[in-house]
Amino acid sequence: MGRAVRSLRERAARGLRVAAEALAGSPAPSPRDEAERLATYPPPFPAGWYALCRSRELGATPRRVDALGQHFVVYRRRGGVAVLDAHCPHMGADLSLGRVKDDCLTCPFHEWSFDDDGRVAAVPYAEGAPKRSLATRAWATEERDGFVFAFVDPEHRARGVVPEPPYRLPTWPGIADGSFVHRGDHDAGIVRMHLQEFAENSADTAHFAPLHGQMTLPWSRVPLPGVHIEHDASWETDAEAPHVTWFRDQAVLSFFGRRVERTRASAAICIAGPGGVVTFHFDIPDVGKIILYQTHLPVGPLAQRIHFRWYAERSVPRLLSWYVVGNWVAQWRADIAIWETKVYRARPMLVRGDGPILDMRRWYRRFHPTDPAPPAGDSPPRATA
Ligand code: FES
Ligand SMILES: [Fe+2]
Repeated sequence: MGRAVRSLRERAARGLRVAAEALAGSPAPSPRDEAERLATYPPPFPAGWYALCRSRELGATPRRVDALGQHFVVYRRRGGVAVLDAHCPHMGADLSLGRVKDDCLTCPFHEWSFDDDGRVAAVPYAEGAPKRSLATRAWATEERDGFVFAFVDPEHRARGVVPEPPYRLPTWPGIADGSFVHRGDHDAGIVRMHLQEFAENSADTAHFAPLHGQMTLPWSRVPLPGVHIEHDASWETDAEAPHVTWFRDQAVLSFFGRRVERTRASAAICIAGPGGVVTFHFDIPDVGKIILYQTHLPVGPLAQRIHFRWYAERSVPRLLSWYVVGNWVAQWRADIAIWETKVYRARPMLVRGDGPILDMRRWYRRFHPTDPAPPAGDSPPRATA
């Protein structure tokens, strides 16, 4: 009986999620329109840390992940996880069909086995094979906070050596020491957008009032009549970690034109790297703090798989954390129709009040090693309001 109710509830939740995703997205565009849109953007797969999957999605068997124009195999080994290129360097079999044996990944085709650094550990039928010189690509990994993260540089071609990442993801001690507890997950599906758009959106302060000024029911685009949100936002690069930016927002509600100060809430949003891993730090006065992960995995040049996962201090009631996260997700949904149809203006026609969009772009270029720098003195046209 309990199982039947649970399965019914899961099916209903899945149906609602599919319906919400369908409502959130715009109609599928033609491939030609998408190709034209893509041609306006910087490279789609910047080097950085990405959540390849969630910890609970990775069991004892290897898992295939296709993202960033690459094919990966993710598997568990003693004391951690490993990520290699999915296709065997011998004859190209899919290593995710193999198994983990003696802490090595064994290919299903001729049973070569691989260490986590990508080097061949054994070739069962060729005693004298120069195993240690044979290798596939291996990627730096880190498993924590419920995710399997990997540092991926699609331009990296060398075999075997795990590329030492130029930076590490920030750590949040409250999650590690158990003072924050896991409160929820939300798989938001795929949004047809370029990765850079999320980072750029935080610096684009002029869109806050038109797109994020209306309060809605949490998790939805259903407006609450007469209830509006005023934003006071700032954006800055982290002084000690140049690959990190912080976007800070103070939001206050007004009810039929009257601002209510005690609704004021603050959020600090940390974008680590090119936007694969974003964390929101909500502080609710007299109640406690919430940390929300929003991960973007580029599964196509204009396609991000998006996942939300949140933790809260024990003092924060589960329902309140659901409400706070639901309010953010509702506001995030407001951008989707724009992201899924816009083009990238390399020379945007900016005016005073547009926010530090060019500063953000200058910062972001560090993740595009192959993206040519604009010629010196080639600043975008700028008018004054
Ligand atoms: S293809 Fe993998 S061992 Fe031959
Ligand atoms: Fe936005």
